Amino acid sequence: MKIFVTRKIHESGINMLRKAGHKVTVYPKDEIIPRTKLLKAVKGCDAILSLLTDKINDEIFAAAGPKLIIVANFAVGFDNIDLEAAKKRNITITNTPSDKVNESVAEHTFALMLALARRITEADDFAKHGKYTGWSPTLLTGTDMHNKTMGLIGAGRIGSMAAFRGVKGFNMKLIYSDLKANKTLEKELGAKKVSQANLLKTADFISLHVPLFPSTRHLISTSEFKLMKPTAFLVNTSRGPVVDEKALLKALKNKQIAGAALDVFECEPAIDCDLRDNLELKKFSNVILTPHIASATQEARRDMSEIAAKNIIAVLKGGKPLTAAK
Ligand code: GLV
Repeated sequence: MKIFVTRKIHESGINMLRKAGHKVTVYPKDEIIPRTKLLKAVKGCDAILSLLTDKINDEIFAAAGPKLIIVANFAVGFDNIDLEAAKKRNITITNTPSDKVNESVAEHTFALMLALARRITEADDFAKHGKYTGWSPTLLTGTDMHNKTMGLIGAGRIGSMAAFRGVKGFNMKLIYSDLKANKTLEKELGAKKVSQANLLKTADFISLHVPLFPSTRHLISTSEFKLMKPTAFLVNTSRGPVVDEKALLKALKNKQIAGAALDVFECEPAIDCDLRDNLELKKFSNVILTPHIASATQEARRDMSEIAAKNIIAVLKGGKPLTAAK
């Protein structure tokens, strides 16, 4: 059957699709596929393997035509896909939430927490630019992580894996806010469920792990920053619009928080929504920016490619997807 892949991904999944006898076309350029090309390329497809940078909505479904039965998103998140429109057309949507991928995101989350606490990017810049003239007791002093409180907003799979590192590896205390209680976290890591306001007031390291929904857009904004401790650090490896970047900028300027690390941005693929803010956010030495790479390990990307392929193979055979987006 006919499958379109919107950008080059790890070849293992592509090979699986071809081995299963499907005709696979991969967009040949290493760029986000332009909309007009995407609309043309999906025509007559049975399956699309999309990326989080592709807006998959009814326009795409209509352009693909009636054969389309699955869109396999190469991502854990699927806020780029209109699930309602897919449901109306009976199109299955899948994502790639494997333990391997989630662990990779959790590792990056933790790397950002460590980098903030121990001022790694500042120190690297300092050492590389000839500023080190000898040891000093006050040079680049950071913050301990052990015995500090990690606050998870969203205690799902990725958040829990990041928390495991904090509690087991760094002896941190753990609090979380979520709609549902996570009894495993409570039992295994001694986590305490608290209100979001309470978490914001108490946590030393606040890590965001919620999907992007209308209800989580700007979940962290002016009033939330006001609740945070001036010593608190914020880490976002979820989705950019969960944080109101203008409010973040103000909070940093007013020293309402100690620093922030963002792997995702409100106006992706741009790093900032407007040029003025962009330049300002970059000026803060206590801000770390990484370009949406939390799952960017060889292992995770291979796994993502294979899960997407397995979902497509299963559904095209008339079976159930492994990891339906829900
Ligand atoms: C990356 O952000 C993903 O959702 O996999």
